[in-house]
Amino acid sequence: MSSSFPPPCVNTIDWDDIGFRVREGDKVNGHIEASYSVKTGKWTQPEFVEDPFLRIHGMAPGLNYGQQCYEGLKAFRGPEDNTISIFRSTKNAARMQHSASFISIPEVPVELFNKCVHLAVSLNAEFVPPHRTGAAMYIRPLLFGSSAQLGLSPPEEYTFVVYVLPVGVYHGVHPVAALILEDFDRAAPEGTGSAKVGGNYAPVLRFSERARNEGFGITLHLDSQSRTMIDEFSTSGFVGVKEDGQDKYTIVVPDSKNVIKSVTSDSVCEIAKSFGWKVECREIKYDELPTFSEVMAAGTAAALVPIKSITMRSRNDEFKYHGGDGEPGPVVIKLLSTLKGIQQGKIKDTFGWLDPVEQARPSDYSVRGGRDTGTGRTNGVDGTVDELP
Ligand SMILES: Cc1ncc(COP(=O)(O)O)c(C=O)c1O
Repeated sequence: MSSSFPPPCVNTIDWDDIGFRVREGDKVNGHIEASYSVKTGKWTQPEFVEDPFLRIHGMAPGLNYGQQCYEGLKAFRGPEDNTISIFRSTKNAARMQHSASFISIPEVPVELFNKCVHLAVSLNAEFVPPHRTGAAMYIRPLLFGSSAQLGLSPPEEYTFVVYVLPVGVYHGVHPVAALILEDFDRAAPEGTGSAKVGGNYAPVLRFSERARNEGFGITLHLDSQSRTMIDEFSTSGFVGVKEDGQDKYTIVVPDSKNVIKSVTSDSVCEIAKSFGWKVECREIKYDELPTFSEVMAAGTAAALVPIKSITMRSRNDEFKYHGGDGEPGPVVIKLLSTLKGIQQGKIKDTFGWLDPVEQARPSDYSVRGGRDTGTGRTNGVDGTVDELP
């Protein structure tokens, strides 16, 4: 690694006040684009585009028919700020291939996915937050049908893009109340629930917004067929904890075929095993909810969020967990500090989860200059990131 890489963090962002919001002013250098042609059967070389906007035909199936899928992962600066690593990107590459198969999009090869993710981080390295803040760079790969197409048949061209942006952290661990959604089914029994396609997310918005206004920070889905099994939260995986006594625990995660395979959940299961705890990946019945000592939501955006209660209105149930008094339970604290410690390079990565980012080689990509974006259009970045799916 050259001694000039990674560069120091930009001084145009107040890194101590990045909080959990990302503001309009936080512009990065650009994003990566590559496209696939069915005719040639080839992907183009990645292009670094110095502009947040995409030029896309209005008749693209990605816009009209929901032919798109996406991913979410993070990059972190190590101690001393002189390294940057990406967390488990090959898992996300595999998951995007899984998602793409549901919407008739050719796979992005794992090597291309990883290369584009590394390029996007490397070419925006000065926007990866300082180690001391605990904040990270969020990476958003997105894949969609991009050439004009009127009929409902797969198009000629597909576009793969990778965006990045610095995101803040929750300071502390805030337990939230969960509501089981009963007037909406997220995933049909033989449907697309395990695919990270946009069409699974927008329909939840009106229910999650309503729940938030009623004081529930997160919403939980049961299986649609029987409504007796736990699937997942709208934006994260479900993790239940059973106390086996004497600092021994069993971690229980659902094996439903209609949930997103959470990289965070998989990581905490591996960490739990390394502590000598038991891990069970199996059906979780609704009736089992009162037997957990702790419940947490697992996802890239906020890592682990303790769930203080789960409410199901039709049954008049409210199950309470550690966190009701504002104090998260011991298991979430231990798993979270280990996971974050590994991600930030404070704890030795014995799992091989961190991939170092190196300075991008100019022969690996081409550059497309940006246009002036200071003409009143915004880059659309203005939201809290705790709800990132
Ligand atoms: C519905 C859903 N479940 C679970 C997850 C958690 O996955 P990960 O831990 O890989 O971020 C996400 C976020 O990607 C999600 O959107």
